[in-house]
Amino acid sequence: MVNRGTEIIGKTFDYTNEDVFPVWVRTELSKPGPYNDKTKQWLMENGLVFCEVVLGNSASDRICRAMYSGGFLGWGDVDNWIGNRGQGAIREAVSAMQALINRLEVCSKWIADFLTTKYRNRQNDEKRFVIKDLGAGCGSYAFRTLDILRSRGEIDLNWIDWQCLEIAEDAICYGTKRLKESPYEGIISFNKCNFLSQDSYPENPDERGDLTLLIGIICAMSVEQSENCLQKIVPHTKEGSSLLITTLSSLAFEENPKMFRVLVNLGWGLQPKTYDEVVNLVNETDWAIKWTGSERRDLRTGAEIPGEYIMVHGVLQ
Ligand SMILES: C[S@@+](CC[C@H](N)C(=O)[O-])C[C@H]1O[C@@H](n2cnc3c(N)ncnc32)[C@H](O)[C@@H]1O
Repeated sequence: MVNRGTEIIGKTFDYTNEDVFPVWVRTELSKPGPYNDKTKQWLMENGLVFCEVVLGNSASDRICRAMYSGGFLGWGDVDNWIGNRGQGAIREAVSAMQALINRLEVCSKWIADFLTTKYRNRQNDEKRFVIKDLGAGCGSYAFRTLDILRSRGEIDLNWIDWQCLEIAEDAICYGTKRLKESPYEGIISFNKCNFLSQDSYPENPDERGDLTLLIGIICAMSVEQSENCLQKIVPHTKEGSSLLITTLSSLAFEENPKMFRVLVNLGWGLQPKTYDEVVNLVNETDWAIKWTGSERRDLRTGAEIPGEYIMVHGVLQ
């Protein structure tokens, strides 16, 4: 498979008109990577997202968290450049930040609809519905989905057991604080573990998931690593249970090449995939694809169109 991350480093783009950067930085950015230390230093000191990436926190929930809250405002010009970068070639203006925000809304609504159907079809003696949110960060999807369900008022939220499994302490701390201030104590929980390690996340036959979420997790994995990840989680899931994957599409790099090129050059090992690559990799595992989608809608017709993220609903065969 093409490694689009490595590929984009080798490409050159013209940053001459990107006036958020001083002229010497524009010149450096326009050269083939990797960047020299002086350029890296400038980027680090002038952009919070760049700083996180250089410090090795690229896949951290901190970046997602700030984007979901529209928190770029006030961060400074360079972060605003990242947030607002990109122009959808075809139907709508697209920024990486907007795509992430849309991803949160679209996936949460999908999960809310899914849970509502499952709730209506449940047996009376059924146990709580277990959601394994792998790499949940601070639980953004849990809070958003439960807010949607709460406003609809159709299901007893106590039926849901939303387990946020996360390796990063800061995300868990932030999520736990948020939980205490929310109406969802006893519904959402946070557990610190590495879900890919048996020692850290041992199998428990009484605690298998009815729905597993892998949102923003395989974006930086190769096809092989992604397949491996999908297989590793199988022992933690019930037979016939569901999986929702959301991952970065190759369209993201096509729409925002200058922005992604800087991030990748600074060390973010993103591996965006085509739709076919994602479908094929899932087909190599025990998960059968039920549905695929994206976070983007055509502004005029409302129809779903390819976006910066590919969503897949799989069922364990
Ligand atoms: C890009 S963030 C996505 C967070 C959340 N799913 C979202 O989309 O808002 C990826 C998260 O996965 C966590 N993570 C990555 N690998 C993990 C692992 N093996 N075990 C537990 N957490 C992991 C990271 O710490 C980070 O918080």
